[in-house]
Amino acid sequence: MKIAVLTSGGDAPGMNAAIRSVVRTSLYYGIEVYVVYDGYRGLVTSKFKKADRNLVSEILTRGGTVLGTARMTSFADKEIRTIAIDNLRKQGIDCLIVIGGDGTFRGAAALNDEGFPTIGIPASIDNDIGGTDYTIGFHTALQTVVENIDKLKDTSSSHQRASIVETMGRHNGDLALYAGLSTGAEFIITPEHPMNKEAIIEALKRHKIEGRRNAIIVITENILDVYDLAKEITEKSGFACRATVLGYVQRGGSPVPQDRILAGRMGAYAVELAKQKISGVAIGIQHEDIVHYPIKEAFLEKNKKTLKGLFELAPKIA
Ligand code: F6P
Repeated sequence: MKIAVLTSGGDAPGMNAAIRSVVRTSLYYGIEVYVVYDGYRGLVTSKFKKADRNLVSEILTRGGTVLGTARMTSFADKEIRTIAIDNLRKQGIDCLIVIGGDGTFRGAAALNDEGFPTIGIPASIDNDIGGTDYTIGFHTALQTVVENIDKLKDTSSSHQRASIVETMGRHNGDLALYAGLSTGAEFIITPEHPMNKEAIIEALKRHKIEGRRNAIIVITENILDVYDLAKEITEKSGFACRATVLGYVQRGGSPVPQDRILAGRMGAYAVELAKQKISGVAIGIQHEDIVHYPIKEAFLEKNKKTLKGLFELAPKIA
């Protein structure tokens, strides 16, 4: 049997740990394993390389992806995917394991529908894949956001300012929510939990009168212009307010143990499925167990029950 593995879409810490797990588990079972460079683009240009143990040595702790990645919009075209499938077949590959987020999974679902066995491992700092409690990379990005908010809190408190912190997440608020809870943020604004600007300004006025020295407002990207909001808060609340956009720093760094272990478990599980000729599935973690489910379920909305509970908790402990 021959397996190929690639990473695609936005990189996420722990992708290397997942690649390593796929390669090492395959070799453990005597399966021939190939890596593909630069995501789906590498399938189309035939950038395969046969892997041995050494190819994945010393990558467990590294951020990013040693295979490279790409956002390849043209992979939505069937003709482009047909070239990819032809190349996979020429190489004699029996199953493709893709590591990535939502866009990557759409490509995987299409390849599988078109007859090429494909399995998806969820890796994205956004934690926006349906059917899994966590994606690989989320906890490392969360750690980065929390470290940065802690630092911002120091300077905000010294200057008696309010601070707006914009996180990534695309259209999913988990990073902002979990970071807000971890840092005792006064306000958390996400796509699932929209902003009431007037209420925030009124609350900040009260906080000023009560003598509070700082306020943290965490907000998911793509909601509004945080610099405009900072200006308005400064004008209306009595708190001087500054905005910080954390940006791409959230995608880098050595994965935290939780992401390394998750990647190790998911990579090995993907190989077990490939051995059993199971494909067209995504891998997830649900209540600490590694599971698989039809890949199209990954595009459905995430279970919002936990989120609801966390949003209710936030104001009680802020
Ligand atoms: O999906 C990961 C992510 O970092 C999102 O949080 C963000 O919106 C997007 O990727 C940025 O994409 P790009 O790397 O293409 O600029």
